This record gives sequence, structure tokens and C-alpha cells, in this order.
Amino acid sequence: MSNHDLFYSRRSVRAFLPTPIPQATLERILLAAGRAPSGTNTQPWRVAVLTGAALASLIEKLIAATLDPDRPTKYTEPYVYYPRQWASPYIERRRKIGYDMYGLLGIERRDIERIRRQWNRNFEFFGAPVGLMFTIERVMEQGSWMDYGMFLQSLMLAARVEGLDTCPQAAFNEFHTIILPHIGAGENEALVCGMSLGYADETAVVNKLKTERASLNEFVKFLE
Ligand SMILES: Cc1cc2nc3c(=O)[nH]c(=O)nc-3n(C[C@H](O)[C@H](O)[C@H](O)COP(=O)(O)O)c2cc1C
Repeated sequence: MSNHDLFYSRRSVRAFLPTPIPQATLERILLAAGRAPSGTNTQPWRVAVLTGAALASLIEKLIAATLDPDRPTKYTEPYVYYPRQWASPYIERRRKIGYDMYGLLGIERRDIERIRRQWNRNFEFFGAPVGLMFTIERVMEQGSWMDYGMFLQSLMLAARVEGLDTCPQAAFNEFHTIILPHIGAGENEALVCGMSLGYADETAVVNKLKTERASLNEFVKFLE
């Protein structure tokens, strides 16, 4: 794979094979990700790697939470990820990925039940054998969250080098009060997001999704 192919080959995979990932592979990926830059080399990332019983029991807790009738009031996100007020062009891009993904799966826009079921696949890590949970100490500020993004992207690219795929998931944030104690996080830690990691199931329709990107003139200004 050339360096550019690596960037273009990363995509969010939403159906994985159960094939286990050797510990040495996981360690190589995490060490490579840890080479990400951070302001004054603070390295604000902390990762819980869940496999086997630790992963299965978290999935069980999360699925139970999705069925809780008090879900909307009981579970809230630890930080605001998306804009409170959506504006163009972001709202259109957000809608497009929804239409494209559910369209691919043959799920109609008004079929709330099937949309909900597909969304809840998040909490099964889309069948991946490895679940990652990322935390940050609460004392760290906005700059460290920027560093964190670089770490996450490095991790996803390092996974590609190993022939593995990922799906970064903010869906888990809703259930941070379940996840943090499950992974033994301290009171001083906040959940950043989670991620599924494994071999892509290339036969799954959902993995045929191709997302688009804006053209250069939409996000770059060349000034001379
Ligand atoms: C921090 C972060 C959180 C995300 N959360 C979710 C999620 O909860 N569930 C999901 O299916 N995709 C999630 N995504 C994947 C995005 O939808 C995806 O990155 C985007 O549509 C671009 O597609 P691509 O990753 O295939 O290039 C997330 C992506 C990022 C960076």
C-alpha cells in the first residue's frame, strides 16, 4: 500500500468478522498511534481494550440500557459533540450519509424501528472482536482534545497497515455512566468516544458505503 492509499483505504466499517486479533498486533497499533503529536508531548490519551468476556459483558449492559424506558432522561452525553444549531453545509452532509447508509440497507426514511435497530448495532461493536474505549483526564483542556483526534486517526491508519478496519463511535457517549465504571476509569476521567476494531466483513452490504468529501475549493484557500 502506498502512503496515499493508506489514507484513502480508511473508512468506517459497520460489520466485522469475529476473527480474533493477536495481542502483538494490538500492541503494534497502539504503539504506532501513541506516536501522534500532542502539545508539549502531554499524550492525553488513555485506552481500554476490551475483548472476550470484558467485551461481551459490556455489550450486555449497553443493550439492556437501550431497552430502558427511562433512556432519554437517564442517559445524557458527557460533552456536546454536534452543533446545537445545525447550519449549511454541515446539515446537508449529515443528512446525506444517513440517506446513503440507510438507502444501501433498504431502510426507508420513516422506518424508525429499523433505523433504531441499525443504530443499536453500535452497541454490539458491529460484531468486532475488539472494542476500544478512549478516556481523557478531566483536567485536560480543548487543546488536548485536538491532540486526541490525531491519536485516533493514527490508530485507525495503523489498523489499516495491519489489514484491519475500524469504526470510531460517539454513539457510546450516551452511556458513559455505564462504560466508565465497566472499564475501571477513575472519577477524574471522561469518555471521549469508543471504537470497533477488527477484520471487515466484505460481504456485508453496509460496508459498501462510500462517503464523499468536499472538493478542494470548498475548504481550501490558496493565497499568494
Ligand atoms: C469521533 C467520531 C465519532 C463517530 N461516531 C460514529 C458512531 O457512533 N456510529 C457510526 O456508525 N459512525 C460514527 N462515526 C463515523 C462517521 O459517520 C464517518 O467517519 C463519516 O461518515 C465519514 O465516513 P468514513 O469514516 O467511512 O470515511 C464517527 C466518526 C468520528 C470521527
